[in-house]
Amino acid sequence: TPSERELVIIPASHTSLPKKKQYTEPTQMRAAIRPGFFGGNLPSLSTTQAKPIFTPSTNPNDVLVKVKSAAINPVDYKLPKFVAGPIFGLDFSGVVENVGESVTDFAIGDAVFGTTPTGSLADYTVVDTKRIAKFREEDWSFLEAAALPTAYVTSLQGLKVGKVSEGSSVLIIGASGGCGLAAVHLAKAMGADRIIAICSGKNAQLVTEAGATEVVYYNRNETLQAFFDENEGKIQCVYDAATGSGRGEEYTETSMSLLIPDSGEYVQLNGSTSVWVKGLMLKRLAQHQHLIVTDMNTADLEEVLLSLKEINVKPLMNVMPFTEEGIKEGFDLLKSRRTKGKIVFDLS
Ligand SMILES: NC(=O)c1ccc[n+]([C@@H]2O[C@H](COP(=O)([O-])OP(=O)(O)OC[C@H]3O[C@@H](n4cnc5c(N)ncnc54)[C@H](OP(=O)(O)O)[C@@H]3O)[C@@H](O)[C@H]2O)c1
Repeated sequence: TPSERELVIIPASHTSLPKKKQYTEPTQMRAAIRPGFFGGNLPSLSTTQAKPIFTPSTNPNDVLVKVKSAAINPVDYKLPKFVAGPIFGLDFSGVVENVGESVTDFAIGDAVFGTTPTGSLADYTVVDTKRIAKFREEDWSFLEAAALPTAYVTSLQGLKVGKVSEGSSVLIIGASGGCGLAAVHLAKAMGADRIIAICSGKNAQLVTEAGATEVVYYNRNETLQAFFDENEGKIQCVYDAATGSGRGEEYTETSMSLLIPDSGEYVQLNGSTSVWVKGLMLKRLAQHQHLIVTDMNTADLEEVLLSLKEINVKPLMNVMPFTEEGIKEGFDLLKSRRTKGKIVFDLS
């Protein structure tokens, strides 16, 4: 009942749609809602009164999407409600239900994926077309497509900043998680020669099957130290998906010593508050040290699809139902920092 759950009322749309498609205006929408004023706890599943506002004239560059699958990322539980909005989630896949007046590249019925600022863990979302791309349903399921945007586009952009190319040596820290496994796949697609994965022993087989050529266990101190000692100055790109992730993970100093002098690059996805302040203001932390801030865009989403197709790889997923229990299980797993690949919700 509304008193037990937080009920978010999103006004109904007054969209008139092209006549060619039969369309039934939804009267209710399920959505995973950030509870309370700050939204710091786990989401609760609410049934809202209607879908997000969308009209072709006031949303000229947007599309309205019926969400089929949605994936979660650590940022979903880290950002407060006043920054991230009331509905959880960025990554989604779904079908275009309506298009804004200026949209020319997308049409009603297209299967699309990307990230949305209005929340992906909901039956409908509204998103600017520059943050989405189309995919072929013959090649990708909606679940697979939803697993790709943040993890794979971040990794693609990170490996490019790291100047990874044919024959490169790449170290991927946190290799079994969402971004880590994406980086292993994409480093393989880019033709990297040495793909070294840092993960815990239990995930060695997983990262090797994904394309890692060497595995270093971070939970065996002597093994990790021996690796750092033997590889000083030998690595083109260190892609660090672990440092600053909330459990005291810290690899920055040791990583810098691994870089090939003058050309190697250290790319980190997270860090302390001072790293973020410096990274956002100066765009670069130090010489050969970079903080990645994902820039979601159509071209990179398309490049991810092409790269994965080239090496015939699909994302690894934990698929959860879009129910109160499924959402709780998914966020508990994400917060545990023990995820393998992506957590994806089935909304279909
Ligand atoms: N800057 C950006 O734009 C951006 C974009 C995306 C993500 N991020 C950030 O990047 C980080 C990774 O994101 P994600 O989605 O990949 O997270 P994730 O899927 O939750 O990562 C889980 C993985 O982290 C590994 N891990 C945990 N502790 C570790 C340690 N001490 N050393 C090495 N690996 C460790 C775990 O491996 P084991 O189970 O083997 O321990 C697990 O596979 C997060 O902090 C996230 O917020 C930033």
